[in-house]
Amino acid sequence: MNRAYSCEPDQPSHIKIIDGNEEPFENPFHEPEYGKPPEPCILVIFGASGDLTGRKLIPALFNLMKEGNLPANFICVGVARRPKAVEEFRHEMSEQIKKFSRAKPEESELFTFVEKLFYYQLEFHDDTAYDNLNLFLKDLDKNYGTRGNRVFYLSVQPTYFLSIIEKLKGHSLIYAADQPHQFSRVIIEKPFGHDYSSAIALQKDLSQYLAESQIFRIDHYLGKETVQNLLVFRFSNSIFEGLWNHRYVDNIQITVAESIGIEGRGAFYEGQGLTRDVIQNHLMQLLSLVAMEPPINLTPDAIRNEKVKVLQSLQCIPISKIDTFAIRGQYKEGYIDGDPVSAYRQEPNVAANSNIETFAALRLQIENWRWAGVPIYVRAGKRLSKRSTEIVVTFKKAPSILFNKNEHYNVPNQVIFSIQPNEGISIKFNTKIPGGATIVQPVKMDFRYASYFGAEVPEAYERLIHDAIVGDSTLFARVDESINSWRILTPVLKHWAENPLKPEELYSAGTFGPKMADLLPKQEQRRWKPV
Ligand code: BG6
Repeated sequence: MNRAYSCEPDQPSHIKIIDGNEEPFENPFHEPEYGKPPEPCILVIFGASGDLTGRKLIPALFNLMKEGNLPANFICVGVARRPKAVEEFRHEMSEQIKKFSRAKPEESELFTFVEKLFYYQLEFHDDTAYDNLNLFLKDLDKNYGTRGNRVFYLSVQPTYFLSIIEKLKGHSLIYAADQPHQFSRVIIEKPFGHDYSSAIALQKDLSQYLAESQIFRIDHYLGKETVQNLLVFRFSNSIFEGLWNHRYVDNIQITVAESIGIEGRGAFYEGQGLTRDVIQNHLMQLLSLVAMEPPINLTPDAIRNEKVKVLQSLQCIPISKIDTFAIRGQYKEGYIDGDPVSAYRQEPNVAANSNIETFAALRLQIENWRWAGVPIYVRAGKRLSKRSTEIVVTFKKAPSILFNKNEHYNVPNQVIFSIQPNEGISIKFNTKIPGGATIVQPVKMDFRYASYFGAEVPEAYERLIHDAIVGDSTLFARVDESINSWRILTPVLKHWAENPLKPEELYSAGTFGPKMADLLPKQEQRRWKPV
């Protein structure tokens, strides 16, 4: 078997292989200074003409400024290949803020904000341009008091990550991690690598230029309030912790369902597919948070140490079982909310015989003392009937001797985390229907963020950009998290790449994936909780 795909126990340890030294990560006893005000800095966004910048990053910065969460001395420089005057960039970004900002912008606020924006045209391979960028940033330092601090956001195709970082380092835009009084950090968008071996190779290459403490692998799911609340729910409520294990839990399900398609990203999807786009990062993060042990404190590494242990304990699906425990699908034409939508293969920049999955469902298992024997069913898909991200923890049924003799009423308890939409938590339990007879009925107790707290929930990118500016990496994926996630998924992806999609793996847009996905829990006498 190709070693890169091996799941044998002698597989090299995730940490040593990557950094090539014994202690690659920060001192676990280091306590970050929570609440410390962000230091002056320049945020440099590579890929400033891309969709993410206008839709998410700039509106997030605007809201951070509006709520006083940006450093007083702050500048954002958009970098892209197209020539553009700064006024044009500022105008475009104002329009994007009007369209996408969570808070409605006042004209005066917009004016103050766009004054902080600059544009710099650069070809990613052009050495002279990096020298000039360095001078440009130093000039801004002088004029705006940003003190040489830099955060680089790489919102570009993953194939450019390494070459941009190499150039930044080569042209002294990235400093040594221990340089006193100045910092340089790099935020990297997903996907981190394409599979297990390429992620290891990427990390090896990156570590020539950056210390782990300077790399911020962004996964916007970690910036969502509901995702952060998983830790609080689990570890500040003693009533659940004793039950959160294989003795009481029957199965865990995680669903990341979207009704949108690939939104014009045909070329990206043809290179990635749904598993790399959503499961390897977002869904695996949800899994590690719901299954982790309590951390010893709330420092970034204490939390990430526990998350990574979950991913390390995940069992690879044996090659002979992939067809049984890993189901993929691709959407055909269909209807979403009554409107006709085209098939994946008809999307622009998608091959007419594309073998890329837009749906995947897996049956996983965590082999540790807490979770041994508990099936974990996960699924994610595009063009499904509904948008819904949720985690469902289903408990074992009560013995049927007393109230639950009728199988129909023997409904197990569930804790349901609704990550989006309708953010909240529900608990399902049984009650007696009022009246003479003892009839049992399951009911749901609902907590909803919107109705309880009323406040608007900040966008994930706001929290994450802020944390990168203050240097708190808690909500960013550490390299071993990413690599262990690839370890599980790579054999499956390889198997799918080698086998063309079968007709039964195609599903109509507006349904909930291929019928075969239902078999995943069904073969173990379970079923998906309807969303
Ligand atoms: C992105 C994926 O990371 O997450 C998209 O690239 C996906 O394909 C999106 O649609 C989902 O994010 P959210 O926050 O809308 O659930």
